[in-house]
Amino acid sequence: MSETDARMLGFPPEVFAQRRERILGSLGKGVMVLPAAPTLYRSGDVELRYRPDSELFYVSGLTEPEAVAVLSGEGESERFTLFVSARDADAELWSGARLGPEKAKEIFGADASYPIDDLETRLPALLDGPDRVFFRLGHRGPTQALVLAALARARLKGPRRGAGPRAIVDPGVVLDDLRLVKDEHEVDRIRRAAELSVAAFRVALAAVRPGLGEWELESLIDHAFRTGGGAGPAYPTIVGSGTNACVLHYVDNHCNIGDGDLVLVDAGAEVDMYAADITRTFPASGSFSGIQRAVYEIVARANRAAVEAVAPGSTVGDVHSAGLDVLVEGLTELNVLEGEAATLIEEEGYKPYFPHRTSHWLGLDVHDVGDYARDAESRILEPGMVLTVEPGLYFRPDLTETSGSGAELSGIGVRVEDDVLVTVDGHEILTGDLPVAAEEIEGLIG
Ligand code: GLY
Ligand code: MN
Ligand code: MN
Repeated sequence: MSETDARMLGFPPEVFAQRRERILGSLGKGVMVLPAAPTLYRSGDVELRYRPDSELFYVSGLTEPEAVAVLSGEGESERFTLFVSARDADAELWSGARLGPEKAKEIFGADASYPIDDLETRLPALLDGPDRVFFRLGHRGPTQALVLAALARARLKGPRRGAGPRAIVDPGVVLDDLRLVKDEHEVDRIRRAAELSVAAFRVALAAVRPGLGEWELESLIDHAFRTGGGAGPAYPTIVGSGTNACVLHYVDNHCNIGDGDLVLVDAGAEVDMYAADITRTFPASGSFSGIQRAVYEIVARANRAAVEAVAPGSTVGDVHSAGLDVLVEGLTELNVLEGEAATLIEEEGYKPYFPHRTSHWLGLDVHDVGDYARDAESRILEPGMVLTVEPGLYFRPDLTETSGSGAELSGIGVRVEDDVLVTVDGHEILTGDLPVAAEEIEGLIG
């Protein structure tokens, strides 16, 4: 791999150049300022491994901290300006080699590149002239302070020329729709993340047994992500046994798995910045009890029905409804709910047991960007969009006491989550190599 390919995580440089062309075409007379993500600290002065900013990566391929990209909608020469850390032997001794402005300009195809310390002096000139500045407020404090100071100076001059920046606009207004529809390179990364995640789930299913620590399954999964070439988990791996499965984002993973427990595992690898996101729920002992199987099969059916609804022209709301119909019917069969399905759906009687939506977008972020509705209408699916399908039923012990459905359901939590690509003629389940059917899941255990 050439240095450029390696720096851009194997994405061809033209991909970023083409994205920038489209973005620049949407800016009008505006200027977009995109700062790198900050370095985060675990505690004290211990740095967490750096995770680059998704937006900055999307437009530039840049993965270094301490950087800012500026895109100027108007102008001839400097439409893509980069500010990056200057070379510094002392700093590089501690945190590794930096590109420096010259190399960054060459690798990322910037029109101009400067040391990040020059941002303060150069930003006023870059923001003196555009009618709008695309910058996310309340997000990256140090860059925001420089942007606001530069705007204040531009405002002093602008009115005398009859012009000046009049609006601060969230960059997502331009970037989110672009990010929502994935190109072949992005789909390739999500596909690889999905394959790696499927392999990790197979390891977890083979290893699970009563008495194992939730943390042990977590470590097997995360180990598989790293040894399989992924960056690690795209979000903290969830291993919830027994009633822990009812805590939607349970991450403590500190309990021992009990005999007879269901184990809910929600995990996804990150590959070249792109995420997968899978959930399976399985019996630690190797076979579902009667009531566990009944709940599992409802959720699995809801998953299949919702996946079937994924196609261009359908909406993300249609996908939700397809799964919800099955869940509500199932809750009635279980005697948890009573009444007409339509009324239960309208009055959200299912909400205590299914409190989340069926889908979210998937991409550079596990909960990826993109609106779910437009003008109060659910978003229409288009080829290239990637979404999760993740119906669930959760019978929290505090709820089941009053549900009239008895103790049997108490503490059962089931979610079945797949990652689905919208294709020209329907969909592709990117996580489809991992079974959903109860008997097939049982067959993979132990
Ligand atoms: N892993 C978080 C989610 O499924 O949304
Ligand atoms: Mn998800
Ligand atoms: Mn998930």
